[in-house]
Amino acid sequence: MKQSYKPLVVANWKMNPGTLVEAKALLLAIKATAKKTPEAEVVVAAPAIFLTELQKVVGSIVHLAAQNVHGQPNGAFTGETSMAMLQASGVSHVIVGHSERRAMGETDEVVAKKIQVVLKAKNTPIVCIGERERDSQGNFYIHIESQIVSAFATIPPNRFKDIVIAYEPIWAIGTGKTATGDDVIEMSLYIHKVLTKHYGRNAAGKVRVIYGGSVNAENATSLYGTKSIAGFLVGGASLKPADFAKIIEATK
Ligand code: PGA
Repeated sequence: MKQSYKPLVVANWKMNPGTLVEAKALLLAIKATAKKTPEAEVVVAAPAIFLTELQKVVGSIVHLAAQNVHGQPNGAFTGETSMAMLQASGVSHVIVGHSERRAMGETDEVVAKKIQVVLKAKNTPIVCIGERERDSQGNFYIHIESQIVSAFATIPPNRFKDIVIAYEPIWAIGTGKTATGDDVIEMSLYIHKVLTKHYGRNAAGKVRVIYGGSVNAENATSLYGTKSIAGFLVGGASLKPADFAKIIEATK
C-alpha cells in the first residue's frame, strides 16, 4: 500500500509508570531512539497527569498524546479532561475508543463525539477498533464495519487524512497472542474496503491504519514487512525502552 506519511509508532503507556520521575526517564530513553530513527514518527501516549511536565522535556522529535479526552469542551464532568486542557499540555494526538475504555461503557456515539473534538482542535485522533473474537461465521467483519461507520459518520471526507485507525483485535491486546501477518493484511484491506464503500476511494486512501495487540521486539519486523500497515500502537512493550527501540527500528 502506498504511504505518503512517515511510519507512525505510538506508545500507549496506559496507567504506567507509577511516578513522574520514571515517566521522564522512559520518555528520554524513547527520545534517544527516535533521534536515531528519523524515518519514523514516534508518539507517546502518557497518563494525563504527567503530560504538562513531560512537555518540558519532550523536544520536537517525539510527540505527546493523550489516552482519552472528554467529548464536551467544559462543564460539570467530574474527573474528566477537556481537549483544551490536553492541548495546553502539549499533545498533538489523542487515542480515542480504546477497547479498555469501550469495556467501561464508552459507546460508538461517544467515540464519534470525541473524534470530532480532537479534529476541531487540529489534533490527530487515533481511533481504536477491533473485534473481541473471530467467529467462524465472520460476524466480526460486521462489527468492524459498524465501528468504522459510526466513528466516521459526521466527519467530512476532507478530514480523513487527519485520522489514524488503530486496528487492535481485543483478543490480541496484552495477551501475547498477535494477529498473523495474513490477518493484518486482510484486515487492513477490509478496513479500506469499508471506507471506500461508504466514503469513496479518494477519502478512504487517506486514512492511515496501524496495528496494535501484543506487538513486540520479535514480531514487529515481520508485521511491518507485510506492507499493509502504517505503523503500530504498542502497549506493554512500550514500557521497555530496548524493546520499543526495536519496534521503532522495524519500521525503517
Ligand atoms: P499491548 O497493548 O501491546 O500490551 O497488547 C496494545 C494496546 O492496548 O494499545
